[in-house]
Amino acid sequence: MLTRKIGLIGIGTVGKAFLKEFRRNKPFVKKTLNLDLEVVKVCDIDPHLKNFSQELGFPFTTDPQEIINDPQIDILIELIGGINPAKKFIISSLKKGKDIITANKALLSSEGREIFQLAYKLKRAIRFEASVASAIPLIKSISEVLKFARIKSIYAILNGTTNFILTEMQKHKVSLFEALEKAKKKGIAERNSSLDIKGIDSLHKISILCFLCFGKFPNLEEVLTEGIEKISLQDIHYAEELGFRIKLLAIAKKIKKEIEVRVHPALIPQNHPLAETNGVYNSIFINTEVGRDFFFSGLGAGGKPTALAVFSDLLSLVREGSNFFIPERGSKVNFRKRGQLYSRYYLKFLAKDKPGVLAKISKILADLGISIASVTQKETATLKSKFVPIIMLTHKTKEKDLNKAKEKIDRLPIIKPPTQLIRIEEL
Ligand code: HSE
Repeated sequence: MLTRKIGLIGIGTVGKAFLKEFRRNKPFVKKTLNLDLEVVKVCDIDPHLKNFSQELGFPFTTDPQEIINDPQIDILIELIGGINPAKKFIISSLKKGKDIITANKALLSSEGREIFQLAYKLKRAIRFEASVASAIPLIKSISEVLKFARIKSIYAILNGTTNFILTEMQKHKVSLFEALEKAKKKGIAERNSSLDIKGIDSLHKISILCFLCFGKFPNLEEVLTEGIEKISLQDIHYAEELGFRIKLLAIAKKIKKEIEVRVHPALIPQNHPLAETNGVYNSIFINTEVGRDFFFSGLGAGGKPTALAVFSDLLSLVREGSNFFIPERGSKVNFRKRGQLYSRYYLKFLAKDKPGVLAKISKILADLGISIASVTQKETATLKSKFVPIIMLTHKTKEKDLNKAKEKIDRLPIIKPPTQLIRIEEL
């Protein structure tokens, strides 16, 4: 019988769910897989978690060093989140000979390069299935299979909170704020929910996928990252009328020899599987040279599904040992500079309803070589405002030119700025 001793730091939503799942599954794992796994100590800075832990039968401490310095502990499960002290704990534990399981996307996306190099040098394993798309076995599938199918692009919904919010707005016409409050109650939002709303959590996750798929982490500050904070019920409604749905997408794709990475809301065709990903679900659409398209979908956030990913990491680490990825080593991959985007756009102008307005807007667009695909002006009768929405879809154009046009249009006295601009992904 293979025996492993485990220490866990961080008893939040995921930590609690993991401890319950661990207790439930331990006898089965012992009997069927011949593995004797023991969580010998759990730690959280909040002393109130002592009762919770001890009721489940796990010895508790508020001092992480009791776990890090305990030579009998082989595996550290880090579920604190954030950069520090998580990084410090992981580095010290690696140096003490422990293997690591973490769900920490913020940490891996910014410090993964250093942490993976160290683990590699010390011949220690790191597993991080829970860091991206929760219970969906994505990290394992990419590392063990898809990577070898030569990945061309990833289009993904990687944040459960924003997907839940957009779904609530679309289906129940509630405001973004109301939907966010619901997401918080469900325990899916980050402690600092602006990480979800502003697209930063999706950025962290797509960066980890970039490393796995293309061998290199992008520089987070250089990635185009926009959240859903400016998406209104009106935009969702107009997009639907036009046959689209608005989703927060995380995209990484090869364009010639470069990788383009970006996170932003986008209009996507309603009949695409990504558009049908609702609520807390995440979906990942991967196009490869060898196997064409792969589609993953499942619960992307929440204590139980994330705990499941941690548990599966634990089993695979104990049974297979080493890492299934290699750290960045002289990768020749280059990331495409921002501002080179070539896309279709949804534009919503608020304009005075009088003759010549459309002509003025169209002239500015035409002067910059931007071709209009469709225009709809919305009825004025029920609107108290002097300004009426005009919805325009463009053909493909350079984003630089579109931004120039938007600036000029927003300076027109007949326009109430800012004009709304959302990219359209044709998929
Ligand atoms: N806040 C994250 C989300 C949690 O909503 O996706 C899972 O990583």
